[in-house]
Amino acid sequence: MTLPVVVRRSAFVAGFAAIAACSNPPAERATDAPAVAADAVDIHSFARPADARVTHVALDLRADMQAHELRGTATLTVQRRPGATELVLDTRDLDIEKVADGSGAALAHALGDADPVKGRPLTVKLDDRQGPVVVSYTTRPSAGALQWLAPEQTAGKQQPYLFSQGEAILTRTWIPTQDSPGVRQTYTAKITVPAPLRAVMSAEHVSDPPASTSGERTFEFKMTNAVPPYLIALAIGDLADKASGPRTAVYAEPSTLDRAASEFVDLERMVEAAERLVGPYRWGRYDLLVLPPSFPFGGMENPRLTFATPTVIAGDRSLVSLVAHELAHSWSGNLVTNATWSDFWLNEGITTYVEARIMEEVYGKERADMLRVLGRRDLDAEITRLGGPTARDTILHIDLAGRDPDEGSTDIPYEKGSLFLQTLEGAVGRERFDPFLRSYFDRHAFQSITSAVFLDDVRRNLVAGDAALEQRLLLDDWVYKPGVPPNFAIVVSPALNRIEAQAKAFAGGANATSLAASGWSTQEWQHFLESLPEKLTQAQLQDLDRAYRLTGSGNSEILFLWLRAAIRNNYRPALPALERFLTSMGRRKFLRPLYEDLMKQDWGQAEARRIYAKARPTYHSVSTSTLDQIVK
Ligand code: BES
Ligand code: ZN
Repeated sequence: MTLPVVVRRSAFVAGFAAIAACSNPPAERATDAPAVAADAVDIHSFARPADARVTHVALDLRADMQAHELRGTATLTVQRRPGATELVLDTRDLDIEKVADGSGAALAHALGDADPVKGRPLTVKLDDRQGPVVVSYTTRPSAGALQWLAPEQTAGKQQPYLFSQGEAILTRTWIPTQDSPGVRQTYTAKITVPAPLRAVMSAEHVSDPPASTSGERTFEFKMTNAVPPYLIALAIGDLADKASGPRTAVYAEPSTLDRAASEFVDLERMVEAAERLVGPYRWGRYDLLVLPPSFPFGGMENPRLTFATPTVIAGDRSLVSLVAHELAHSWSGNLVTNATWSDFWLNEGITTYVEARIMEEVYGKERADMLRVLGRRDLDAEITRLGGPTARDTILHIDLAGRDPDEGSTDIPYEKGSLFLQTLEGAVGRERFDPFLRSYFDRHAFQSITSAVFLDDVRRNLVAGDAALEQRLLLDDWVYKPGVPPNFAIVVSPALNRIEAQAKAFAGGANATSLAASGWSTQEWQHFLESLPEKLTQAQLQDLDRAYRLTGSGNSEILFLWLRAAIRNNYRPALPALERFLTSMGRRKFLRPLYEDLMKQDWGQAEARRIYAKARPTYHSVSTSTLDQIVK
């Protein structure tokens, strides 16, 4: 196995000079001085990669679909500083059976005390040889990354299913490794599953065994680009695939495949559009796996194989910006990765910016501008929710000391981050910004970087000594101060302005049919529903519902906003649909606000508890860990 050059270089040269990631702007430095290529300290990992660093993981695991266990070995390639005597790994809820060297000889090891956020460090005594470290282990049924589904929770209802979700710090619940986004690792895997099932991973298929219905099948994978461990992903189930273009395909359960493939026909065009914008796609294939409905996110950018919720299948391709988003992560996130979870906006903000640019390329400016305006509105609502423009959690480089990185996963990194990039673009124009962005990805390809390194790169390569521009950009304010700096780019959508006028008219007494809303796009509906006043009368809700059948909407985004309005206004006819929605999918973005809204109503608390008691066993840990705090 040859390791990418960056891993070898960064491992020790950079490791020795490890500095703390600071939440203050870095001291001024002459623009011709080299950027400090030091490791940032990741407070969410026990690892000490400057001493001994995992550079490659070879998994050999067997899935027990009944016992809900993965069992086998992780063989770690380790780079050591001369004289290093210990390797520290991250684990959580793992049963470690043995730690050995390459010859099978046991290595002394110890599991440290459990930290409520980080889990437990596994410290391994290194012997004098330079060989691999082999960890034999079994995952627990409660492993946070893994959701084991009973056949009834799948579309086909015949076979069990397993999927993993590593981001942010859940990979340690199924792989004992250094679970830090700054510790990039290549990987290989042998995954043994019961014969009717297939395994897929965020990696190249080395060999898929012939189809069989009895016994076991072993699937082999390899990822030769070094990736942060949160991108190691696995799914096992009754899976079929359908080619979409020369390097794109859709995977899903057989009964969902046709609908899924038709929704995502534009995959190849999206990859081409992204390449024109940000440079070559460096991962080979771009496939999309549509998961069962309990998948807790809209999408997850696992390399070569985006994981997506089936709730984006609207039947009219109106929610495919989610694919543009996950695809954009192939540059921002997967190629250039946040070094710590405080730098999460580098992943999500730049991705949200590129997502809109891809949508603009493929579907035109009008649709892209609608998405930008919806994003801007979400940003304002989020700032209010977090306590206003001076609230600390509105800072892009977020302080996560003592907290789970999940707490930083608000709209701020997405929408304030994207608005920052839009502001940079607006200040210099696309002729200058686009080449900058493209070259930024080249300069930091396959590296994990901090916010400070990003700003340094902007100063060198975009500002490039233009003092007036530097003053105008307010770079440090954007990254290290709360709220939205005054130089923000203005986003407008004439189409959505018209919708706002319609919402006003309706709120003021116009009837639903006069809106002539039958031809509205999903984005227009979203904007309309979000522009309505908090309080509506039963007659108004009934009028809207009769005219446009909103309670029966098959579009998850529209249904979601409609149900929120229904809960706020105690509109009873929508309650059966609410219960159906909450018990048929596990996407946290929808669940959280709906349960929160219910808990705010006197009548809603008992409803929330009753529905949650029924649905909780079907949700992924990512969702229950959020919802347990809401529905008490
Ligand atoms: N990488 C995120 C999902 C994520 C974030 C997982 C933080 C774990 C921790 C993914 O790219 C994402 O942002 N998904 C969004 C959809 C997107 C269109 C905004 C989601 O799931 O809602
Ligand atoms: Zn994302």
